[in-house]
Amino acid sequence: MSELTRGVLLGYRRENADPPYLHPDYQATRTRAPAEPLVPLAHTLSEVTGPVFGHERVRELDHDLTRQHDGEPLGERIILHGRVLDGDGRPLRNTLIEMWQANSAGRYRHDVDRHPAPLDPNFTGGGRCMTDDEGRYRFITVKPGAYPWRNHENAWRAAHIHLSLFGPAFATRLVTQMYFPGDPLFYQDPIFNSVREPKHRELMISSFDLSQTVPEWALAYEFDIVLRGREATPTET
Ligand SMILES: [Fe+2]
Repeated sequence: MSELTRGVLLGYRRENADPPYLHPDYQATRTRAPAEPLVPLAHTLSEVTGPVFGHERVRELDHDLTRQHDGEPLGERIILHGRVLDGDGRPLRNTLIEMWQANSAGRYRHDVDRHPAPLDPNFTGGGRCMTDDEGRYRFITVKPGAYPWRNHENAWRAAHIHLSLFGPAFATRLVTQMYFPGDPLFYQDPIFNSVREPKHRELMISSFDLSQTVPEWALAYEFDIVLRGREATPTET
């Protein structure tokens, strides 16, 4: 029986509580965090068996957010790549990874985003791909801008990209946020700082990767996602 199958039968449990459900500086968690201890519920068969996504659902250009429209989006073109690994460093193959982000001006293409920054007609902000046999993924996009939010006076999110791993079924979905090295907004971003351990926060920051840059075309950032163990990437549930 594979480790993945054992996980299905035992149900899915959150391995560590960093970030915690309640982080008062992140205002939304005050009303969203459970006030009582969680009660584990057995997963039903449909939760652990489907839906399952495969290559046929991912289109050729889904990983390239710069080629989803007639023209190219404005902004700093970047390559985001990395591996999805389990706690023993083994690759997660053929797993769906999705991402979404603001455009280079810090605006989401979403009805509730009222940030007075321009939408880009050539940028939707969503991408997806499957990991390869070594657990690798690769997206081409533009670097997202920082954006304001109303959490506190003059609050700004550090630039970030949201990432989702689907796993074998919806109940196994993990969501995280990836940041860029050296961002001056880290210190005042309560979502980034809701991850309490500084060494865990570091695991959410990508590395600039000169080796994967494409001369005269794009810079590259590397971000590995580790599912378990001491090096596990913090996720939200
Ligand atoms: Fe965001």
